[in-house]
Amino acid sequence: MVEFSKRVPADGTDAVGVILNSASDPNVISFAGGLPAGELFPIKEMEKATDEAYEKHGEAAMQYGSASGVVELRKQLLKRSEEKENIKAELKNIMMTTGSEQALDLMGKTFINPGDAVLLEEPTYLCAVDVFRSYGAEFVGVEMDDNGMRTDKLEEALKAHPEAKLIYTIPNYQNPSGRTMSLERRKKVAELAAKYDVYVLEDNPYGDIRFAGEEHIPSIKSFDTTDHVVYTSTFSKILAPGFRLGWVIANDYLIKKLTVMKQSADLQTDNLVQYACSAFLKNNDIDAHIKEISKVYSERKDRMVEDIKKYFPKGVQCTNPHGGMFLWVTVPGVEDTVELFKQCLKHNVAFVPGDPFFGTNPVPGTFRLNYSCMPIDKIDEGIQRLGKALQEAIEN
Ligand SMILES: Cc1ncc(COP(=O)(O)O)c(C=O)c1O
Repeated sequence: MVEFSKRVPADGTDAVGVILNSASDPNVISFAGGLPAGELFPIKEMEKATDEAYEKHGEAAMQYGSASGVVELRKQLLKRSEEKENIKAELKNIMMTTGSEQALDLMGKTFINPGDAVLLEEPTYLCAVDVFRSYGAEFVGVEMDDNGMRTDKLEEALKAHPEAKLIYTIPNYQNPSGRTMSLERRKKVAELAAKYDVYVLEDNPYGDIRFAGEEHIPSIKSFDTTDHVVYTSTFSKILAPGFRLGWVIANDYLIKKLTVMKQSADLQTDNLVQYACSAFLKNNDIDAHIKEISKVYSERKDRMVEDIKKYFPKGVQCTNPHGGMFLWVTVPGVEDTVELFKQCLKHNVAFVPGDPFFGTNPVPGTFRLNYSCMPIDKIDEGIQRLGKALQEAIEN
């Protein structure tokens, strides 16, 4: 049998795949997925935008193109990043990626040698853990609280690991915890990156999905005066994930390196999709669309939190996000979260157990709930089932 490379996880480690599969039974109400609400996709508008892309750019859309991406779209994204995130950058600072997942992968490929330290929030996005692990990263977990990554702990970690090259953070409505990093900490992260000469990978897929009344906090990148912050975002949560379209903004030296690495990965991102998204942005009010998405998610999140208060056993804690798609639950006293998952599945309700969201030691009894793609009546029913299952698990 030919051996796989060390990057391939050992057999049986696709724990999340197994969980999502077992939760796919139609009788199960699954809060395990992480999908945007499909009924809100602007299908008609995208159809028109795609027609326009073919009409105006047919040949270029179907031809090989630049690895950096379509100029028109990059200019639109730069304008938007300046208006929304206070990021000042030029064309040479932005590259399109095949989803923001590719930006994480390219950063891993560009910086991580086996054994290199990566500093990250715990918990954090499980696919980022998988990507960095595939390049042999050694994780250094940095504690969080309700204001995001603790910068005192971050500085301790940087002192303990002077060889670290990368800090990974999701400052807005983090996946999986729903937490947001405070303004002071964003400034501090940028300051620490400069002081310890380390890159920050600021992953911002959820920043626009902000609930009414919630103040917008500028990006870490906007406080970056020394070119240490690499910013990535995506169309996945504001338009549709099927397009696989993201972007990365960084200093031009690094963008050149990332472009070379991208070329060897997939040559370029889909041109047609880039022209179509560019036309969509030109012809539609994407902010009005984002407002609509945020309103629906906000209602779903409110109902989930209300139901949790009503139906979960006493002592169970959950976060209460002001945006994004997820909340994080902690059940004290539970030792084996996967066992808890199995017990809940018997009640026909599912979540993602917390373990894979940790780069180092998982905190038992934690799990992620998704509310974005679940109608209110299903949230009511699902959280009631979950409440019963948790009560049983706690009593046994
Ligand atoms: C924190 C975070 N980063 C990156 C991604 C990847 O998104 P995409 O590749 O669809 O842009 C996701 C997807 O859920 C995410 O939650």
